[in-house]
Amino acid sequence: MEFNHQPVLLNKVLEYMPLKNNGIFVDGTLGGGGHSEALLRKCQISNFKCQIIGIDQDLEAIIAAKKNLKKIADKIIFVHDNYSNLAEILASKKIDKIDGILLDLGVSSYQLDNPERGFSFQSDASLDMRMNQNAEETAGEIVNYYDEKKLADIFYKFGEEKYSRQIAKKIIEERKKTAIKTTAKLVEIIKAATPPKYRFGSRIHFATRVFQALRIEVNNELQVLEQFIPAAVESLNKNGRLIIISFHSLEDRIVKHTFRNLENAHPEEFKVLTKKPLIATDDDVRENPRSRSAKMRVIEKI
Ligand SMILES: C[S@@+](CC[C@H](N)C(=O)[O-])C[C@H]1O[C@@H](n2cnc3c(N)ncnc32)[C@H](O)[C@@H]1O
Repeated sequence: MEFNHQPVLLNKVLEYMPLKNNGIFVDGTLGGGGHSEALLRKCQISNFKCQIIGIDQDLEAIIAAKKNLKKIADKIIFVHDNYSNLAEILASKKIDKIDGILLDLGVSSYQLDNPERGFSFQSDASLDMRMNQNAEETAGEIVNYYDEKKLADIFYKFGEEKYSRQIAKKIIEERKKTAIKTTAKLVEIIKAATPPKYRFGSRIHFATRVFQALRIEVNNELQVLEQFIPAAVESLNKNGRLIIISFHSLEDRIVKHTFRNLENAHPEEFKVLTKKPLIATDDDVRENPRSRSAKMRVIEKI
């Protein structure tokens, strides 16, 4: 499998990650390993001995990263797990503290481009959207079994979808006739539930918000992120940093508030290094269009 993924905001990640000799770093969203590879190359150039613990909950990502990074595989510990289990992962490797953590949230280009995974409304596939293929609940189960109110709430809360109620109602109507099994069927339902001016007048595809909402619900993305940040900074050494790149306002809000709360509650212990989020330059966007909506924030343990 191919991960054609130019790492997002790479220069800023390289600038802010406090690489140092004998440093141990965590890439909590390893994906194809693009960021990890660049970080390790920078260590090499600086003559630093560094190690990265590369975590991904998607087994296909771990397999791809192992292949992509085989020349530097001795510097990476590959872990197939959720980054929310960081404390347990570190304990199992007998590692007490680390020097930096990176999260590059969301789906990888591979996950999006691989129709079988069901993340994309651009191609027809089974409604799956699980990042961890061992997880129990798929998007199809949510669409076919959640009640109307719960569906509408998810579309509204996680997708900021203004036709959430109409779409949920239409889903209930349709699934009474036959189970909704595919991404194409769901797109058809969203189309039928929304007015033409909404579908044609927007910069983004009319199914974007519902698909985002389902993906967030399937993978429990916001809750995992919210709980992770305070726990993760506990595992940082002095001068260690947590770097988070997010892709929509719901994630960025969580990162911004949790970082600010940590700094306000413990000003002697934490400093937010990015009062405003770092965003992509025109060159970044040219190299990787996905970076257009990326926001990066950094907190340091002082
Ligand atoms: C945008 S990609 C990362 C790309 C990577 N930075 C690179 O340069 O190739 C995000 C990856 O994070 C993984 N992921 C998302 N949430 C996760 C979680 N809670 N725990 C572990 N992995 C997660 C996804 O499976 C996906 O492979």
